[in-house]
Amino acid sequence: MNIEIIRLNHTGEGIGKIENKIVFIPKTIPQDKVRIKNLQNKKNYYTALPDVYLERGTLYKEAICPYYSVCGGCQIMELSYQEQLKYKKSKVIDIFKKYANLEINPDIVASSHELNYRNKITLQVEQGKIGLYQIQTKKLVPIQKCYLVKEKINQVIPILNTIDLKEVTQIIIKEFQEKIMIQIKGKINVKDVISILKNYASSIYLNNTLIYGEEKLKEVLEDKEYYISPNSFFQVNKEQTINLYNQVKKYLGKGNENILDLYCGMASIGIFVNKTSKQITGIELNPSSVKDARENIKKNHLDNIKVSEGDVGSLLEVENTYDAIIVDPPRSGLDKKTKSGLLKIKSKKIIYVSCNPITLARDIHDLKEFYRLEEIKLFDLFPSTYHIETICVMKRK
Ligand SMILES: C[S@@+](CC[C@H](N)C(=O)[O-])C[C@H]1O[C@@H](n2cnc3c(N)ncnc32)[C@H](O)[C@@H]1O
Repeated sequence: MNIEIIRLNHTGEGIGKIENKIVFIPKTIPQDKVRIKNLQNKKNYYTALPDVYLERGTLYKEAICPYYSVCGGCQIMELSYQEQLKYKKSKVIDIFKKYANLEINPDIVASSHELNYRNKITLQVEQGKIGLYQIQTKKLVPIQKCYLVKEKINQVIPILNTIDLKEVTQIIIKEFQEKIMIQIKGKINVKDVISILKNYASSIYLNNTLIYGEEKLKEVLEDKEYYISPNSFFQVNKEQTINLYNQVKKYLGKGNENILDLYCGMASIGIFVNKTSKQITGIELNPSSVKDARENIKKNHLDNIKVSEGDVGSLLEVENTYDAIIVDPPRSGLDKKTKSGLLKIKSKKIIYVSCNPITLARDIHDLKEFYRLEEIKLFDLFPSTYHIETICVMKRK
């Protein structure tokens, strides 16, 4: 069956129609005409895979990556970068209309690097082979390199391929300041692996235990230093993280008495914006991030940031007042308890950093009794994928 692709859905899959029912086809873009295979009827829609590309339109650009047609790592590499940005902006506009009934027209800040921007890759290992998962399945696509990650990370992949990885299930490679951290899950011959990898890595972990080198690696954002443990959260695109955190700083303005920083990770934002306020209070669930936060606050010689460990919804003190509350939750957004707490706390503004525009729009809608969306901006931290980071400021009514 032949299908014409009309537009992209929110996860970067092409949308076509079979009679009046929608069909989602990954690895296709608008103006494509494709013959499809694996058609599956899902009640309200179909899914299918592209079999043969019969025609490619004016938006099509050849993907640089040889694994692109099968790999689930990225979704829209066949669009020019300008078209990717247009898609992301219009997607967020649609989502805000649908989930928050708000008309927006946000600026989008492009990534300075379209490729080789990621400081982290999570590789799956099966029967000794390293790769990423295929689209729609958990089948492994063995890879030699990934065009989204830093070159230094790619240099390690062929070396890993020389090691016996039969009893390994996952390998994470990270790069900060040209240094490599490797986190291995499974069983290996520790002595052999260290002797091979020590020429490439500054830090090697096996099942969360340090087996070689440095416990943490350092990253630098402007004048701030961050020492990062293997299990702590750190954004993957450094240049755009600096732009994003500077936007948080702008939205905060100067001279705040008291800021609350929720889902604060390693207090990365608080440390970056610390001069904007007399006191910053962070809340974070992950003990590794909290430990790093406390150490990094000291290492940067700051004395106005405190971090509490625990669940945001449970630790919110609703009788307090703040000049601003920063929230930067995971993709699931804010839970009900957190939102009801935020409505009780008196804060002049909420600055919401989000990696999922759908939960962001839903949460803005749920907070609308007391907070009005004032400004919104998009930062593309993830070129070639459907993901987009959004930041907005809401003012108390
Ligand atoms: C998107 S990250 C943001 C981290 C940090 N703001 C930054 O810029 O690096 C989300 C953080 O929320 C934390 N988290 C997830 N659920 C949480 C909860 N219920 N309470 C507190 N923190 C939570 C995660 O551990 C993670 O560090």
